[in-house]
Amino acid sequence: MMKLSKIGLGIALALGLSMSAQAAEVEVLHYWTSGGEAKSVAELKKMLEAKGHTWKDFAVAGGGGESAMTVLKSRVVSGNPPAAAQIKGPSIQEWGEEGVLANIDGVATKEGWDKLLPKVVSDVMKHDGKYVAVPVNVHRVNWMWANPEVFKKADATVPTTWDEFFVAADKIKAAGMTAVAHGGQPWQDATTFESVVLGTQGPVFYNKAFVELDPKSLDSAQMVEALETFRKIKQYTDEGAPGRDWNLATSMIIKGEAGMQFMGDWAKGEFTAAGKKPGVDYICAAAPGTSKGFTFNIDSFVMFDLDNKDLAAGQNDLASTVLSPEFQEVFNLNKGSIPARLGSSMEKFDDCAKLSSKDFVESAKFDTLVPSMAHGMSTFSSTQGAIYDTVTEFYNNDKVTAKDAAAKMAKAVASATADL
Ligand code: GAL
Repeated sequence: MMKLSKIGLGIALALGLSMSAQAAEVEVLHYWTSGGEAKSVAELKKMLEAKGHTWKDFAVAGGGGESAMTVLKSRVVSGNPPAAAQIKGPSIQEWGEEGVLANIDGVATKEGWDKLLPKVVSDVMKHDGKYVAVPVNVHRVNWMWANPEVFKKADATVPTTWDEFFVAADKIKAAGMTAVAHGGQPWQDATTFESVVLGTQGPVFYNKAFVELDPKSLDSAQMVEALETFRKIKQYTDEGAPGRDWNLATSMIIKGEAGMQFMGDWAKGEFTAAGKKPGVDYICAAAPGTSKGFTFNIDSFVMFDLDNKDLAAGQNDLASTVLSPEFQEVFNLNKGSIPARLGSSMEKFDDCAKLSSKDFVESAKFDTLVPSMAHGMSTFSSTQGAIYDTVTEFYNNDKVTAKDAAAKMAKAVASATADL
């Protein structure tokens, strides 16, 4: 009996150890704290814990993620990075250069990610040819969200061009309502501004300005025209706009307190969380002049190299969960985005998402697919910050002329890129 129990104890210990060797506490930094966002990230927590790991939530509120990035930098500098963080676009290369990211090529190769992702996506997820990030979704930024009741009351029509926008906005304002729900924060100013640039100047100019950072495009009559159109929007916002969080602007559309919001489709996550139906309670429409274009914003998670094999197992399970068909569906249904994984069924998605999915493919075919400047897809964070600062200063200070702002933008971008 004694002998048997010793063997039994040995097996139990070995099993226990092997189980504990796999289980890890996975700390994840993100900034998904609004209603719709929180519901979405809860799905990831649920799926990771079903694999035996513990999810340590490292949520830093603040739309657009600037606050989260500040906190992350301090954690990494102090040698104590989380296991994973919501990092996306060219910033992945910046972090890759720091030599702090974990290589997740193992799980990527095993699962054939190169075949599961469009090349425009997989290229962004690699540093020195190795996967260091996993994509969560594809958000479309050039959306306009409209409340049909407000338009009906004002006898206005949902605009498809910027000229039509000003006609509709005047009607809504004349009817005593707020035409545009806006949050006066740099990233939100930039989100609206980039849709004005795409809608008034087109994708070729957009890419020259925000991807190539061509000084002759940044400081040009075209940029002046876009800036002037952009600032004209301010007269249609309410006095509560300065500093308002994006999801509170979305709730103004949900409650019929305003007619339109220019925001990426994470706003759809708020409508969904509020039980609202597209085409009934709200309208999703391309921002004026951009129906043939698609401004993409791909959320992703990087894994940090923690030199710990248990944690590495947890990180690999996190990466594998994120790209799984199940997660890609349930997360994006809640988040308002569309799956990053090729071949994902769109059956359960609403008409806005189906339009997004169709336009994503079409725009790639006709070169009208552009990376979002406002959401860190088109350039490094320092250059993005230079554009943010000049756009927001111009929007808030009527004494700054569009011509001056365009010149300032070109200068600020040149000095930000010179330092790279
Ligand atoms: C974007 C991010 C979205 C959403 C939005 C509002 O930059 O990619 O997932 O979080 O900010 O915070």
